[in-house]
Amino acid sequence: MGLFSKDIKNMDDLFVHTLRDIYYAENQIVKSLPDMIEKASDPQLKQGFQSHLRETENHVKRLEQVFRLHGVDAKGIDCPAIDGILEEAEEVAGEVDDKAVLDAALIAAAQAVEHYEITRYGCLVAWANQLGRSDCATLLKQNLEEEKAADKKLTVMAESNVNRRAA
Ligand SMILES: [Fe+2]
Ligand SMILES: [Fe+2]
Repeated sequence: MGLFSKDIKNMDDLFVHTLRDIYYAENQIVKSLPDMIEKASDPQLKQGFQSHLRETENHVKRLEQVFRLHGVDAKGIDCPAIDGILEEAEEVAGEVDDKAVLDAALIAAAQAVEHYEITRYGCLVAWANQLGRSDCATLLKQNLEEEKAADKKLTVMAESNVNRRAA
C-alpha cells in the first residue's frame, strides 16, 4: 500500500492499514524480546520481559481474531517506525558495558515500544467503535490495557532499584 497511490480511501481502509501496521510491529516485538531477556541482568526485569513476551504472543493472536471478525486477511505491512525503535535499542545496548546501565537502557527502549503500541491501539479502539465494530474494539482494548500495564511496570522499575544501582 503506497503512500502516494491513494489506496486508503475511507476509515475502513485506514483501520485495516493500521491493523496491519501493528500486526507487523507485534511480530517484530516477539522476535526482539528474547534478545532483551538475554541482555537483562536484573531478575525482575528479565522476568518482566518474559511475561510480556507471552502477552505479546497473545496480542498477535487477538489481532488475528480481529482480522477474522472484520473479514480481511491477517497480514502485516512494513512499519518503519517500530523497525527504527528496535534498531536504535539494539544499537544503544551494543554501546553499554555496565550491567545496571544496560538494564536502564533496556527499560528505556521497552518503554518506547510500549508507547508506540499504546498510540496505535488507542486509535484502533476508537476507529473500531466508529465503524460499528465493538467486537473488534473489545479485543483491541484488551491489548491496549496490557500495553499500559507493561508500561507502568517499566516505570516502577526505572524509578526504583535498576536506575539507582546504575547511578
Ligand atoms: Fe503488544
Ligand atoms: Fe507491548
